[in-house]
Amino acid sequence: MTVIPTVLAPCKRKPATDTFFHDVVQGLTAQQKYLDPKYFYDATGDMLFQQIMQCHEYYLTDCEMEIFRNQSADIVTALQHYAGIFDVVELGAGDATKSVHLLQQLIDNGIDYTYFPIDISGNVISQLEQSLPEKVPGLQLHGLHGEYFQMLQQANKYSSRKKVLLFMGANIGNFSVSAAQNFCRQLRQYLQPGDMLLTGFDLKKHPQIILNAYNDAAGITRAFNFNLLHRINRELGANFDTTKFEHFPTYDPASGACKSYLISLENQQVHLGDTVSIPFKENEALYMEISQKYSLEEADQLAAFSSFKPVARFFDSKHWFTDCLWKCI
Ligand code: TRP
Repeated sequence: MTVIPTVLAPCKRKPATDTFFHDVVQGLTAQQKYLDPKYFYDATGDMLFQQIMQCHEYYLTDCEMEIFRNQSADIVTALQHYAGIFDVVELGAGDATKSVHLLQQLIDNGIDYTYFPIDISGNVISQLEQSLPEKVPGLQLHGLHGEYFQMLQQANKYSSRKKVLLFMGANIGNFSVSAAQNFCRQLRQYLQPGDMLLTGFDLKKHPQIILNAYNDAAGITRAFNFNLLHRINRELGANFDTTKFEHFPTYDPASGACKSYLISLENQQVHLGDTVSIPFKENEALYMEISQKYSLEEADQLAAFSSFKPVARFFDSKHWFTDCLWKCI
């Protein structure tokens, strides 16, 4: 029997909780059940993700850090060559621990630019506004708090210089290939010919290395996944019993899709508040997240598909990760 949920009277909830509730119910009533990965990051989720980045199995952060630490001078040379005079815009700036190397190198080279970090979190932006000018003396910074595309429009209003866009980490990998295609095409519409995009790709490599990165031996990634169920219990009055689910990460070396699921270990009903009941069948999969891995050719195809021209690539010493520089055509 399928249970059609009735949504609770919205007046009892804060708007953010309403959206969370709505998104969770939408995901859990879809034919393939899923949860939106953006909800991983509450306070505990943030802490667990910090721990994931410290795990030796999770190589992505270290690889990209190595690129920015060792090759910022080369990146700046390429930027000057292809863009001339420009401002730097970062999508999802976070704490800017990687980009800070590039920002410093630009200053060291005497380049006059403004850094526009964009983040959905107002907290992140005010932190950056406080800490970055101390870390990088002379930095001109203009924080933008909001949605990527809207804030990109703002940045274009504030400055008519060419834009160098940073979209780092495994961010692009958080989209499926077709969603990444849509995203890049949309992004391209907010840019002008001559603007540049520097974007990080986690590369296809031995499948076991990739799978281990999403299945660390200490169980932190597992806890990170279960934390979202705990969060739903706490904030939406649900009763997920995490002992009745198993963390099941997968990696398909052909497609490059690394997907995580939680598998229901028995037939069960999960309740959200008083009004919604979600049936899970034994062995049914709840889809949690994708991290898409690319070959160099596939990254180039994504560029071509969305009207960018790949002009340079920067690798870590193991060639596990690449930051690609694309020019808008
Ligand atoms: N999506 C990011 C990545 O691919 C961060 C991440 C790592 C993650 N492990 C995770 C997100 C597990 C959700 C669940 O690296």
